[in-house]
Amino acid sequence: MSKLRAVLVGTGTYLPARVMTNDDLVKLVDTTDEWITARTGIKQRYIAADGEFTSDLAIKAANIALDDAGLKGSDIDLIVLATATPDQTFPATAVRVQTAIGMNHGAAFDLQAVCSGFIYAMATADNFIKAGQAKRVMVIGAETFSRILDWEDRTTCVLFGDGAGAMIFEAQIGEGTSEDKGILTTHLHSDGQYCDLLYVDGGPSSTQTVGHLRMNGKEVFRHAVKNIAEAINDSLTEAGLEAEDINWFVPHQANQRILDGTAKRLGIGNECIVSTVAQHGNTSAASVPLAFDVARKDGRIKDGQLVLMEAMGGGFTWGSALVRV
Ligand code: UT7
Repeated sequence: MSKLRAVLVGTGTYLPARVMTNDDLVKLVDTTDEWITARTGIKQRYIAADGEFTSDLAIKAANIALDDAGLKGSDIDLIVLATATPDQTFPATAVRVQTAIGMNHGAAFDLQAVCSGFIYAMATADNFIKAGQAKRVMVIGAETFSRILDWEDRTTCVLFGDGAGAMIFEAQIGEGTSEDKGILTTHLHSDGQYCDLLYVDGGPSSTQTVGHLRMNGKEVFRHAVKNIAEAINDSLTEAGLEAEDINWFVPHQANQRILDGTAKRLGIGNECIVSTVAQHGNTSAASVPLAFDVARKDGRIKDGQLVLMEAMGGGFTWGSALVRV
């Protein structure tokens, strides 16, 4: 039976110009390149310039995605922007993107699910498209986590970086089978009982400050592999597929050890996993679209292939999206 599908028609990313290597961090905190590499796989991250905001990164990624799709801003009727580091408490960073790309109709809003934000935003886009309420949706993950890091806390400041990634999804009619192009399944989860394991110690209503990121890394790690494996299994079960049917896994890029642990648990070959954690660090909501774009543009991800994206982050939140590109 025919079914409306949210089909990927363009991608774009943007990373700030400044690269911060592990050796640069050695000058700031008591750490070493060896520790960071062995515990996380991260070698470098990108840091936004003074005066360069989340919206600036998002706008650059959005414009590249529009060019890639051969579309104009006015062709988009919804922007869903996932971020935990908006320019301001309000208005939404999404409306700044809306104006900058020349879109003066439709709607634009921000979505907050921390590192799982892009998966949540894809699920939102998919549901707007399936409900017939949007024809073309720009999904963006954009972050400037460098602004909420405690640069004296070696347990967190070595992990994160800045960046933005965008994908454009278009409503197209499919056959209603897993051979269709587009988003085939999405699964979202959250469990607020763990909200104190990864959080920011500030906010407009509580402290009237922006605050800094705090994390119990060991505990987050412990939950990450289990939750991510569950999100992947949800997708495979609903689609009636096995792990070996998936061409590419594009996970949230938090830690190479989490990627390896998940692969081992599910029996997935490392050669099917896109990893950009060494180059980008953890860019929160931007990490999945950044990794996807690298593998698409270097020719690994090809038209018609099945890609499973997943993420896990503060809240806890976690989820997956299965897409035929
Ligand atoms: O995107 C959202 C999801 N976030 C995550 O998925 C992050 C999950 N957690 C992790 O990735 C890991 O837990 C970390 C990379 C954060 C930490 O790795 P770990 O193997 O869990 O290390 P640990 O926290 O147990 O720390 C081991 C030691 C400690 O020293 P003692 O107590 O054994 O003397 C830390 O103080 O390493 C020390 N340490 C460091 N040493 C050098 C912590 N950070 C650093 C550092 N450089 N940057």
